[in-house]
Amino acid sequence: MMASKSLRAVLLATILQGAFAVTTPWGQCGGKGYTGDEDCPSEYYCKVQNEWYFQCVPGTAPSTTVPTTSPTSSPTVSTTITSTPTSTPTSSPTSSGTASPTTSGSGVQCTGTFTPVSASAYIAALNPGWNLGNTLDAIEDEGDWNNAPVAPSTFDSILAAGFQSVRLPVTWAYHFTSGSPTWDVDPAWLQRVSDVVDQATERGLKALVNVHHDSWTWADVSAAGANITEIEEKFSRLWFQIATKLACKGSEVAFEPINEPPGTTAEHGAELNKLNGIFLQAVNDAGGFNPERVVTLVGLGEDAVKTSLWFEPPDEKFTNPWGVQFHYYSPYDFIFSAWGKTTWGSATDKATLEADFSALRANFTNVPLLLGEWDASTTNTETAGRWKYFDFLLRTAAKYNVSTIMWDNGLDHYDRVADEWRDPTVLGILQSAVEGETNALAESTTDAAATSAVSSAYVWKKVGDDVTAVSVPYQFNGLTLTSISETTNSTSKPLVAGSDYAVEESNVTFSAEYLSTVYAGSNATGTLATLALEFSAGAPLALRVAQWAPPKLASTSSALPATSADLLIPVAWAGQNRPAAVRALKSDGGILIEDWTQYLGPLQQGRMTYENQWNWDEGHVILKAPVLDAVRAAGRTTTFTFEFYPRVEGLVNSANYTITV
Ligand SMILES: *[C@@H]1O[C@H](CO)[C@@H](O)[C@H](O)[C@H]1NC(C)=O
Ligand SMILES: *[C@@H]1O[C@H](CO)[C@@H](O)[C@H](O)[C@H]1NC(C)=O
Ligand SMILES: *[C@@H]1O[C@H](CO)[C@@H](O)[C@H](O)[C@H]1NC(C)=O
Ligand SMILES: *[C@@H]1O[C@H](CO)[C@@H](O)[C@H](O)[C@H]1NC(C)=O
Ligand SMILES: *[C@@H]1O[C@H](CO)[C@@H](O)[C@H](O)[C@H]1NC(C)=O
Ligand SMILES: *[C@@H]1O[C@H](CO)[C@@H](O)[C@H](O)[C@H]1NC(C)=O
Ligand SMILES: *[C@@H]1O[C@H](CO)[C@@H](O)[C@H](O)[C@H]1NC(C)=O
Repeated sequence: MMASKSLRAVLLATILQGAFAVTTPWGQCGGKGYTGDEDCPSEYYCKVQNEWYFQCVPGTAPSTTVPTTSPTSSPTVSTTITSTPTSTPTSSPTSSGTASPTTSGSGVQCTGTFTPVSASAYIAALNPGWNLGNTLDAIEDEGDWNNAPVAPSTFDSILAAGFQSVRLPVTWAYHFTSGSPTWDVDPAWLQRVSDVVDQATERGLKALVNVHHDSWTWADVSAAGANITEIEEKFSRLWFQIATKLACKGSEVAFEPINEPPGTTAEHGAELNKLNGIFLQAVNDAGGFNPERVVTLVGLGEDAVKTSLWFEPPDEKFTNPWGVQFHYYSPYDFIFSAWGKTTWGSATDKATLEADFSALRANFTNVPLLLGEWDASTTNTETAGRWKYFDFLLRTAAKYNVSTIMWDNGLDHYDRVADEWRDPTVLGILQSAVEGETNALAESTTDAAATSAVSSAYVWKKVGDDVTAVSVPYQFNGLTLTSISETTNSTSKPLVAGSDYAVEESNVTFSAEYLSTVYAGSNATGTLATLALEFSAGAPLALRVAQWAPPKLASTSSALPATSADLLIPVAWAGQNRPAAVRALKSDGGILIEDWTQYLGPLQQGRMTYENQWNWDEGHVILKAPVLDAVRAAGRTTTFTFEFYPRVEGLVNSANYTITV
């Protein structure tokens, strides 16, 4: 598990939920990526739940929690980049293939050929794509986060998994060798990026190169006191150098000006439109094949709503084929495991997602659209909910003619070290959804009022309970189940229809006799067998036959320390090795942190948020330092209930830990 805030933010992009509606009680009223109304109804105030989510809650604002989203002042200096940037690349670009570039007054001259492609053809052909996340974009250098420097073989596996493209996020901020006015980039870093581009394209993948976390640092036009002139100059010079280095790459290489540029106002939006133009000017000035290269331009935050609001097409003088790129991580609570939300897939969930895509498409009727980041991570989302989310998002994207590039920070999906997909089912669902093939899906709880949550990704039995027949509900979606096979210790054997299992309407019922062969009188917890269900079409679905007991913590209480640090509590896992949710109740029965969650369903009341507030690793459950601060601020002994999968009635599958004050 990666706990750092920066990694969380890598995954974060937009919150579209509730945007634009006039605020309602308990509705969203602010947060990064939010552009809707910020005034709450009377008797409610706007509370900062976290940097991504402000919410209208009853009462009046304590002076310390009033959100401060007011935009920064307008740029005082306005420049127009009309001339060729004066900096010249510090090393002459190298080439692959037949291209042999040289620079001249009008930029790089390439030999060799370039096959022009329209933006719509390019974006259609890159579907589906995969993000090389947390790698070249790491702060400060490749290898500094959770991934080793990229190995070319990674691209073989990405191609073999059916991906057509890679987005290569690159952070340049820590690779400048000189400051104003030249803003020279380390030639070795330009070479490294060029080499990785070649490693991807040599294998037949399209490659999309960008300027990534620079948007957090020097390139944030919305930051207080931002020197817009300097940002524009630096941005121009950076892109001139990148585009010079990559000038002779073929048409399989495309550019994206900047990742998720912050901003909340029309003014920020206008400045970003200007930066899109500065980017195009620099790319064209660099010469080579760049004037014909595909680019995916961006709106604020690469957020669909803000892009709809403020994006302006580039000047017609630019010849580059262009599309628009946006990112989508919604709904926030499911994607980021906030407030005990471990379910997705209700009719409302689907309608909300579709409305977001539909509104964007309606604003860009004739523009190729690329969803450049989206995800429901294997790390933290519930399995059956994740499968439904992948299937529905990809079908909805296809319906609205949107190509997709899945985010993967190296922990989410593809394990680059083991060369394994962490959840092969979700990969299969992606592959067939992109092909337009129907998938059968596992059912799971979607009712917000439920007191327990079931998931057809698992057959669960509690240690000590008798083995009984179990009915597992599916969404067959018109398909038929053709076979089930069991894999145990890498040997596979077919199950016998009629005796081992039977299909009853939309249920697959496993006989007690069959399940007894798996449980075999053992009290071992965790997955004892993995079944593969195959259907007349679409992806096979995994079904884990597993056993649980409440995991035990090494200790059950401690005194609040004088200063807060992350509290790691050793745990003996038993079942699935991660918490589903964590509840925090004070000794007076009140909710410690997210008081407003009392109005949510029984599975969400009093629950905190993954990563900022709780986490886990191989041997611990973790309460983050801010949670201890909250206990100190409340001045009350607090009991934390770590809930595990399956989430059964009455918090039976849980472990309590009390911090005494
Ligand atoms: C902003 O940056 C420009 C260009 O680097 C510089 O000339 C100017 O002095 C800066 N303005 C301020 C207020 O620092
Ligand atoms: C354009 O997008 C905005 C923001 O999402 C939305 O409110 C509006 O309905 C969209 N326009 C159309 C024609 O759907
Ligand atoms: C999808 O959009 C592209 C433009 O990006 C257009 O050329 C193509 O015809 C569209 N396809 C469908 C099925 O609407
Ligand atoms: C399994 O656990 C149950 C109670 O939870 C116990 O009665 C039984 O003896 C255990 N069986 C084995 C094989 O350890
Ligand atoms: C299907 O399984 C569910 C959950 O086990 C059960 O509630 C339901 O009655 C079953 N339906 C049929 C037709 O067997
Ligand atoms: C699987 O392997 C484990 C450990 O090697 C062993 O204890 C278990 O009996 C094996 N199970 C089967 C069904 O072969
Ligand atoms: C933890 O405490 C809650 C009450 O706050 C209780 O319902 C639950 O059973 C407890 N869990 C365990 C494992 O004791």
